[in-house]
Parts: sequence; C-alpha cells; structure tokens
Amino acid sequence: MQAMARAFLQRKGVQEARLEADLLVAYALGLDRLGMLLQLERPLEPQEVDRARDVLVRRGRREPVAYITGRREFYGRSFEVGPGVLIPRPETEGLVDRVLSLLRDEDVPQNASLLDWGTGSGCLAITLALECPQAQVSALDISAEALAFARRNAERLGAGVTWIQRDGAQRPWDVPRVDVLVANPPYVDPVVSESLAPEVREFEPHGALFGPAGAADHFVRTLIDLAPEALRPGGHLVLELGFDQGGAALQYAQERGLEAQLLRDLAGIGRCLSARVPGV
Ligand SMILES: C[S@@+](CC[C@H](N)C(=O)[O-])C[C@H]1O[C@@H](n2cnc3c(N)ncnc32)[C@H](O)[C@@H]1O
Repeated sequence: MQAMARAFLQRKGVQEARLEADLLVAYALGLDRLGMLLQLERPLEPQEVDRARDVLVRRGRREPVAYITGRREFYGRSFEVGPGVLIPRPETEGLVDRVLSLLRDEDVPQNASLLDWGTGSGCLAITLALECPQAQVSALDISAEALAFARRNAERLGAGVTWIQRDGAQRPWDVPRVDVLVANPPYVDPVVSESLAPEVREFEPHGALFGPAGAADHFVRTLIDLAPEALRPGGHLVLELGFDQGGAALQYAQERGLEAQLLRDLAGIGRCLSARVPGV
C-alpha cells in the first residue's frame, strides 16, 4: 500500500509524496505514522483499503492535507480546519511571539485588551487567550463560516474569547478600543493567483487570501489607518505582511504618525509590522 500510495502522490505532483503517503494512510487507518509503520506487514481489511484510497484520491486532487485530516498545529496546539477557513501558517506564530514580548517587556499590562482582526480558525485569538490568561481577548471576522470553526476551536481548547462577526473595514469603528490589535489580513494580489500552489488557489477561501486586484496591501493600509481609532492611546498594532510589503507598510505607518518597526523572520524577511500609536 505504502509504495503505491507514494508513487500515486508523486505522479500527482505532490512535493512531499513519501511523507504524506505515510501520514495519510496512517490517518485512514486511525493510527499515527509510527503505529502505521509498525504494522506494515499486516494485510489491510477491505474497508481500510477503501478509506485509504479515498484520502489518497482527495490528496491527488491536491486538496490540502489539513483539510483532509481536519487538523493543523499552531503554536503547539491542534486546531480544527476545513473548507471555508484559512489553514494557519507557521510564519503567523511570529505575531504571537511579538504580542507576548509586548506584554512581557513593554508598557502593555498583563490584563490588556487584545483584538484579533480576521481571526479565521481563531488560531491567534485562542493562542493569545491561553498564553495570556489575564488578557481580555476578542476577535472579529467577516466570515460566519470561519467564526464557526473559531468558536469550536475555542470551546475545545478552553479559551475565553469574545467573537464578533463584522466587516473589519467598515466605518464608523464601533468596536471598543483595545491595547493591542493583531491581524494577519488578506495580502495576496489575485493577479498572481496562478503562481500559487493548487492547494491554496483551488481550496482555501479567496476572501482570506486576496486583497483587491492591483492593491494587495489594501487591508494592511486599512489596518494602519484604523489603528488610531481602534487602539487606546499608546496601543500597539501587530500586523503580518506579504514578503515584499515591509518597506511600503513601514513608510505608510510612519507617515501616519505611528512609531513603527519592521520585525524580520529567521530568513531575514520583514513579515511583521509592529507599530505604536502615540500615547497620552
Ligand atoms: C489571512 S486570513 C487569517 C486567518 C487567521 N487569523 C490566521 O492567521 O490563520 C484573513 C482572515 O480575514 C478575514 N477577512 C477578510 N476580509 C475581512 C474584512 N473585511 N473584515 C473582517 N475580516 C475579514 C477572512 O475571512 C480571513 O479569515
């Protein structure tokens, strides 16, 4: 089964065919990868073969592994995901690190109010609520489908978050001001969608990925514009950016009077804008 599964996924253009064949067959058998490898010699029951074939066919159509298994790890916790919600990315964990460092090292109190704009699966809001138990965490998203995943994740992981369904670009801004606004907004230009992997382009919600055509940084600018209204004096905006948006976002924030800095990831890419609105 394993050899056939690997060869099948390879033919379908799946990059990590070997690893994924193991993971998916294990998933279909209700085992972890090690458990499955220990049972390699065991003949499979017909229903097991059917289940394994079903998940391999889905993956062969380039459906993301996380949608097939219904799970993705973020900051050491397992989140439910599926069609209609963005799969959390490892680079987004950098936003959590930045917010934790603001609470640890800067002027932000432990019982700060935090708002996650565009929460998707709830990965940021829930992680922050669990890592900062004294903080008051709320989260908004325009998508009811995404919020349903976020609510279920919060319930399962035991996180207290206030959920708001709202267009986060809509004014006037009637959400209570917070100490920290964190966001991983849509920032891909739909013009480049053909260059995205089929897993992303054909399966993940376009409303989570794309800004307007020709204005990929539309929501980045929207959030920088919103910061003085949405944050308390001295509050912080922590924003994920596209890999090539750092310079322009930094300049835009500084021109609007924010004390802004670009934080670089391990690859040296400025993926996180951290900006403070003037204090009292
Ligand atoms: C890039 S995803 C981020 C999801 C999650 N925070 C994460 O990091 O995995 C962007 C999210 O913003 C939401 N969104 C897009 N436009 C929005 C808007 N105008 N107002 C509120 N949320 C919006 C999408 O539904 C999506 O869940």
